Amino acid sequence: MRIVSSFSEARSAAMEAYHPSGGEEGPAPIGLVPTMGFLHEGHLSLISRARRECKVVTMSLYVNPRQFNVSSDFDRYPRSFERDCQLAAEAGVDILFAPSTSEMYESTESTAIHPGRVARIMEGTRRPGHLEGVALVVTKLLAGLGAQRTYFGRKDAQQLTMIRRMARDLRFPIEIVGCPTIRESDGLALSSRNTLMSANERETALDISRGLWAAALAAEGGELSAEDLRRAVTADRDRVGWEYVELADQEDASLLDTLDRPSFLAAAAWVGDVRLIDNVFFDMGSDGLAVDRGILLEGPSLLYR
Ligand code: PAF
Repeated sequence: MRIVSSFSEARSAAMEAYHPSGGEEGPAPIGLVPTMGFLHEGHLSLISRARRECKVVTMSLYVNPRQFNVSSDFDRYPRSFERDCQLAAEAGVDILFAPSTSEMYESTESTAIHPGRVARIMEGTRRPGHLEGVALVVTKLLAGLGAQRTYFGRKDAQQLTMIRRMARDLRFPIEIVGCPTIRESDGLALSSRNTLMSANERETALDISRGLWAAALAAEGGELSAEDLRRAVTADRDRVGWEYVELADQEDASLLDTLDRPSFLAAAAWVGDVRLIDNVFFDMGSDGLAVDRGILLEGPSLLYR
C-alpha cells in the first residue's frame, strides 16, 4: 500500500497501479475539446493538438444558454450541426458529445459556480453572468466526461485564466492546455461571430488586431507602461467602438500598470452590432519577452465555405 498526501500523487499512484508497466509518460487517455460548434480552424487546431497528445479525443458541442447575458445574442449565434459533425469527424474526433439542455441542466438543480475575483473585471463587468455561465458548463464537462487533458484557445484569454484557476482551486485532476489564437490571413482573429459581419464591417474590424499588433511591436521595442500600450491599440482607430483595452496578469487576470510578468493585452470592441474580443499574449522566456500574436491562416477560412 502507498500512502500519499497530495491529490496529484494519489492520481499518479492510481494510474501506476492501473498501468503497472509505467515508464515514460505516454499519451493522456482522454482529451476534451469543449466547443459551441460552428467550427473553424481555431477549433480544428485544438482537435489536432488533442489528437497528437491523447488516445481518445472527445469534443463537446453545446451552445450554452447560461453564458449569453443577452438572449438575442444566443438566438443568433451561428449553428450548423451537420457541418460540425463532418468537420469533427475529418479532424479525428472520436466522440462528439452533443447534449440537450435537459441533459446539461436539471430543472431542480441548485449548484452555482462563482469564479470570484478573476471574473469581476473586463468580460465579467461588461457581460454580467457570462463567465459564471462558462464556469458552470465547463465544470460539468470536466467533472462528467473523464478527460485528463482539455484544450482551450488563448483567444478567450480571461476565460482561459478563469478555467485554469478554477481547475486548480477545485483540484480537478485535469490539465488545462491553452493554444494559440488562429487568425484569418489579414489578422482578424477567428470567431464564429465573424460570419455576422458585412464585408465593410469585417474590414473595419481589422482595427482591433492591427491595434493589438501595434502595441505588441511597442512592447517588443521596450514599452512597459500599460497606459502607453493601451494607447497604442486605440490611437487613430476610432471606427470600432472600443469597450475596453486592458493589460492583465495571465495568472489571475488582475489588471496591471506595467508589463513585468506573463500577461495579455485584451480588447473588446463593437463593430456595428457585433461584439468582438481579441488579445496578444506576453510570455516571459529565458530570452525575455516573447509575444504570442497567434497564427495566421494562409488562405480563406472555412468559416465562409
Ligand atoms: O469558448 C467556448 O466556445 C465556450 O465558452 C465553452 C468553453 C465551450 C463553454 O461553453
